[in-house]
Amino acid sequence: MTTDYGEPDLKRLAVLGSTGSIGVSTLHVARELGKNVQILGLSANRNLKRLVEQAQEFRPEWIVATDEASASKFAWPALPGTELLIGHQQLNRMVQAPEVDTVVAAIVGIAGLHSTLAAIQQGKTVALANKETLVAAGPVVMKLAEETGANILPVDSEHNAIFQCLRAGARSEVARVCLTASGGPFREFTQQQMENVVPKQALAHPTWDMGQKISIDSATMMNKALEIIEAKWLFGLSADQIEVVVHPQSIVHSMVEFVDGSVIAQMSPPDMKLPIQYALVWPHRIPGPAPRLRFQDAMSLDFQPPDIGRFPAVALGLQVARQGGTSGAVLNAANEAAVDAFLKKRIGFCDIVRACQDVLQQHAFQPHPTINEIVAIDQWAREEIDKWI
Ligand SMILES: NC(=O)c1ccc[n+]([C@@H]2O[C@H](COP(=O)([O-])OP(=O)(O)OC[C@H]3O[C@@H](n4cnc5c(N)ncnc54)[C@H](OP(=O)(O)O)[C@@H]3O)[C@@H](O)[C@H]2O)c1
Repeated sequence: MTTDYGEPDLKRLAVLGSTGSIGVSTLHVARELGKNVQILGLSANRNLKRLVEQAQEFRPEWIVATDEASASKFAWPALPGTELLIGHQQLNRMVQAPEVDTVVAAIVGIAGLHSTLAAIQQGKTVALANKETLVAAGPVVMKLAEETGANILPVDSEHNAIFQCLRAGARSEVARVCLTASGGPFREFTQQQMENVVPKQALAHPTWDMGQKISIDSATMMNKALEIIEAKWLFGLSADQIEVVVHPQSIVHSMVEFVDGSVIAQMSPPDMKLPIQYALVWPHRIPGPAPRLRFQDAMSLDFQPPDIGRFPAVALGLQVARQGGTSGAVLNAANEAAVDAFLKKRIGFCDIVRACQDVLQQHAFQPHPTINEIVAIDQWAREEIDKWI
């Protein structure tokens, strides 16, 4: 039995973080989808050369350059028909413009929080890549979306997969979800080898081509911890309904087990264009630029439980998902600060998760924080990481 959804409507997009890995893939999808998508707004932080190239191709109404120091030094060419906006506050103005119906939230880190909230506040559809927003402020974000009727459509490949699999049954029929993890570049490293890892090794992901922060998160498996918390808020699950399985080929992007024991999986080559497109044309499916699986080629799919001893971040993610409250904001901020310190060679690779564990233990837990309290505790956790170092 199928439902015919007819033709997808034209989506009028603002792409936040258009110069990053997800932003560039989004514009690739937009280029291919042609008449289904119109780009109204783009934003960059420091890569203004790329922002200008994108503006010259897509001719949006607005571009936002969030880093004011970089914007003031940049030699801006004339961009007829495009208004240049400078500073973080301008993101809110762009996403709230009545002409924009869909916001692709692809800024990395907590820097994406306020613009994502601004879009939800206006009831816009949000194609959410910026998982840190849900990790830090899940209850606030989901409550606001319920009040305004905003749709939050997951772009993260695992959550996009779960979102697709959930179409196979009713929410009350879901037993649990299983998030797949590639295991990152150090899946087979010993603890001793992991202690000596340097940024260049950690940035070289075996199956995905991504931005710096998420590449390090994948190597520590903190990315899976963040995704556990993201799944809890996005799909209204308990921590006990979320499981992680290591799947090195990154073909099965996640699975949903229903109460009768049926497991529905979503499969495709590891490429973000498919989840991005699905979020843009949902509930439709249309042909697009994503690569296809070829079952004529020999292929094997392996699954194994994660090694929590070497990758304690996974247990930390489950712990934070159980606790809720301010724990997500603390873990997220501590991790962002620790990843930054590792990239600057101020701490070792395994220190990232150790520092997060310590800062989480010290924090004064609040079960129902407001957004201002979340912002304050985010700042506190960053300062604690500095002291830890
Ligand atoms: N990459 C993936 O495959 C993937 C998959 C799933 C989920 N995600 C999630 O998607 C988000 C983006 O990831 P990414 O890999 O695309 O990151 P990325 O390549 O590092 O790109 C980040 C984007 O955010 C902008 N940005 C950075 N700091 C900012 C700030 N302080 N204020 C405003 N904008 C800022 C960057 O601008 P400039 O470059 O101009 O400085 C860039 O456009 C993350 O939350 C990540 O977890 C990514």
